[in-house]
This record gives sequence, C-alpha cells and structure tokens, in this order.
Amino acid sequence: KLKIVTIGGGSSYTPELAEGLILRQDRLDIKEWWLVDIDAGKEKLEIVGEMARRQVKAAGLDWEVHLTTDRTLALKDADFVTTQFRVGQLDARIRDERIPSKYHSLGQETNGAGGIFKAFRTIPVILDIINDMKELCPDAWLINFTNPAGMVTEAAIKVGGWKKTIGLCNVPIGSTRMNNTAMGYDGQDVLFHKYAGLNHFHWHRVWDKDGSEVTNKLIETIYNPESDFLKDHEVKNIMLVGYNYEQLKSLGIIPCAYHRYYYMSEDMLEGTLADYEKGETRAEVVKRTEAELFELYKDPHLDYKPEQLALRGGAHYSDAACEVIASIVNDSRTVMVVSTQNNGTITDLPYDSIVEVSSVITAHGAEPFNWGSFPAGARGQLQLMKSMEELVIEAAVKGDYGKAIEAFTVNPLINSGSHMMDMLNEMLVANKDYLPQF
Ligand code: NAD
Ligand code: G6P
Ligand code: MN
Ligand code: MN
Repeated sequence: KLKIVTIGGGSSYTPELAEGLILRQDRLDIKEWWLVDIDAGKEKLEIVGEMARRQVKAAGLDWEVHLTTDRTLALKDADFVTTQFRVGQLDARIRDERIPSKYHSLGQETNGAGGIFKAFRTIPVILDIINDMKELCPDAWLINFTNPAGMVTEAAIKVGGWKKTIGLCNVPIGSTRMNNTAMGYDGQDVLFHKYAGLNHFHWHRVWDKDGSEVTNKLIETIYNPESDFLKDHEVKNIMLVGYNYEQLKSLGIIPCAYHRYYYMSEDMLEGTLADYEKGETRAEVVKRTEAELFELYKDPHLDYKPEQLALRGGAHYSDAACEVIASIVNDSRTVMVVSTQNNGTITDLPYDSIVEVSSVITAHGAEPFNWGSFPAGARGQLQLMKSMEELVIEAAVKGDYGKAIEAFTVNPLINSGSHMMDMLNEMLVANKDYLPQF
C-alpha cells in the first residue's frame, strides 16, 4: 500500500490532486496521504486538508489524510513525494513582479528576473528536502511541480543526486487538448504529439492518425492572425498577445505559451507593465482568487473540486501529477511530457541537462523519445536558456554573486548594464529572509 507525501499541502491546488488520485483509485492502492506545510501555511493546510478529507470520504475511500508541519514525520517510508511549495508565499511573487517593473524589466513567476529569484529561494529548500529523503525514504520518487520546475528538477537530479526525480507542468496538457479540439477531435486525445525543449520553453510537432504530420496545419488554424482560437484555450496567467504568424510558419514547429515572452518581447513587456501600473500583478490577482477559493473550501458540505479553480494557470495539473504516479506504480507506459535527463534526446544540449520531453512513463521512470536537433531559429535560444539555467542553479546553490550577475546578463529578457546591477541588488535585499546562501 502506498504512502504519498505532498509538500506545500496548503496550496489551493490540493483539491486537484485529491480529484486526480480519486479518479485513479483502481490503479492506486493508497494507505496514507500526508499533506505537509510550514507554520506560515498552517491555516491554509487545515482548511484545504479538511476539504481533501471530504473528497476522499465522498468517494467512499478509506485513505488516511494526515496534515502536518513536521516534514520528517511525513517523509518516513514514503513511496512518492510530490512538491508544490512556494517559498516566501505570494508576497515574494509580488516582489518578483513589482521590483523588475520599476527597471522596465519583466517580472514573471518563471521568466526574467522574477523567475531567477524564485529559483534562488526554492533550490536550497528542495536540496534540504532531498537530504531528509536520503535518510527517511531512500527509495521514494520525487515528483516536482514547484517552479521554476525545470531548474528545480535539474538541481534535484544534478546537485541533490536524486535520480528518481520527475518534473511536471500543465502547459503541454493544455496545448495537447487545444490541438485535438482544433483538429475536430473534441474530447478525444487522437493526435500524436512530440514535445522537446525546456520547461516553459519547449516546442512540439504533431501527427494525425493517418500518419500525416499536421504541425503546419495547426499553425495555420490556431496562429493565423484571424483566428480567435487561442482566446478560449490559452493558459490563464499569460497575456494573450498573438505571435508573428510568418515566423511560426517559417520555423515549422509550435512554440509553447511562454515563448511569447521571447518572440514578442516588447509587446509582452509593455503590456505587462501597463497592466501592473493600472491595476494588479498576476500574483495580486491570484491572491484574490485564492481567498475566494478558501472561502469555498471552508464550506463543510463542499466535497468536490469547485469550478473556480480553473481560473488558476495551473488548472488540470493533477492529470500530470497523478498520472505519473499511477504509471510508475503500474508500469503503464503512458506517454507524457516530463522534465527528465536529456541522455542524448536533444542533440543540441549536454547529455546530463534536464529537458522537458515526451516520454514513456515506466516503472523505472521516464524513457524520452528521440527529438534530434533543432533548426537554427530555435537552437541558439534553447542553448542560451540552458546556459542561463545552469548559471542560476550554480548561483542558487553556492550563493555566488558573480554567477548571479552572469545569469542576469545571459537572460534574454534582462537588459545588461548598471540598471541591471541596481535591480539585482534591490532584489537580493528584498529577498534576504529567504536567501540564507547569499
Ligand atoms: P502557494 O502560494 O499556495 O504555496 C503552497 C504552499 O507552500 C503554501 O501553503 C506555503 O505555506 C507552502 N510552503 C512555503 N514554503 C514551504 C516549505 N519550505 N515547505 C513546505 N511548504 C512550504 O502556491 P501555489 O500557487 O499553490 O503554487 C505552488 C507551487 O507550485 C508554486 O511553486 C508554483 O509555481 C507551482 N506550480 C507549478 C505548476 C507547474 O506547471 N509546474 C502549476 C501550478 C503551480
Ligand atoms: C501555468 C504554469 C505553471 C504556473 C501557473 C501560474 O500555466 O504551467 O507553471 O505556476 O500557470 O498560474 P497562476 O494562477 O498562479 O498565475
Ligand atoms: Mn508550468
Ligand atoms: Mn540579458
């Protein structure tokens, strides 16, 4: 029988996880599910934990749902550890968004200076968790959702040495669904997708059931300037700016939603800064949504995931987390998009880099599909982003100021120079409570 541990259990996404586990009850023989949080998240943990208990009970299951702030108690003999924590809570995300905007620079959860600082705060914590796991559950799988998921997963595997780590994101699930709908396969998952790249920086190609490649057809259907297809299907947390249609047609592979920040940089920056100035940043919006969700979760009669959770950018992420767990347990060999070791899959990147790629999920982990090399229009940016990630990880692990400056300089969304140094220094001071390594 399984023991599953979720770190950051007080997250408003926990009912998603409960739903995903319950849906897979035939493939998951669960005894205990432990939700772990810290003192600052205790109130949320109790509310959402009660909610999860009601969901489990309504499904007629006898799973024990434990709520605790004692991580070591929870980790003892765990089979799966899932992570969904946010170091510094949403207030830290607000600072990641607000401070760069003062310097006319993008502040975003996983991109630009904001994403780099989220990595600085998070990487020491994931390494701490792994240290506990080495002692308490040396055979467990680590299923990481914590952002920036690609870098956190790379740190877990390469620095922490935890080979049994799989990183996850909901973006490929969303685009796979959108593409099926665009081709008229409503509610069915018919198309064959092959994804490759980095977390929030990947591309994909698509084939139909008759064997023909439909990548270009999808580019035409979804990304031609007249189409309003994206409006209903794009992730909720990214401003909807259209791509340069001719560029995508020429490139011939489909970018992910976050590529906007790199392909339409000026438009995204101007639009985002204008939004922040007029009103709220994304984290401020999320704070309100979260407060509404927790009001709902307090209702002792609510025992299913409320619709309002779909307002969060990470909607449907349980499909990824719970499917990966069920596929490992049952050796289901499901095809999923995960962050895992490259092993030559993308020939443009080092063997030991962590990449986000379509893979078969087996009892021994992810077996990625071969991708090969990228065209020039994607290859250089991909390699630049991976170098940037390596610098961020090194800076985060060692508290190395020089590497932090290098990472900022290499990041394509950050302009270099004296303003950059002012921004970096201001962010280091603003985050000092969460950066013991610097
Ligand atoms: P949140 O702000 O609700 O944080 C979740 C919980 O983490 C909080 O209750 C907080 O108290 C707790 N926490 C903070 N530090 C902790 C620590 N050291 N140990 C244990 N718990 C700790 O966050 P959220 O909006 O629910 O998102 C959670 C995380 O998942 C974030 O990192 C977010 O970026 C990530 N996320 C990733 C994806 C993806 O596609 N990979 C999708 C959605 C969310
Ligand atoms: C999803 C991303 C997640 C991210 C989330 C933000 O699209 O895959 O990695 O955390 O959006 O959503 P939020 O509602 O917190 O802005
Ligand atoms: Mn993601
Ligand atoms: Mn730069």
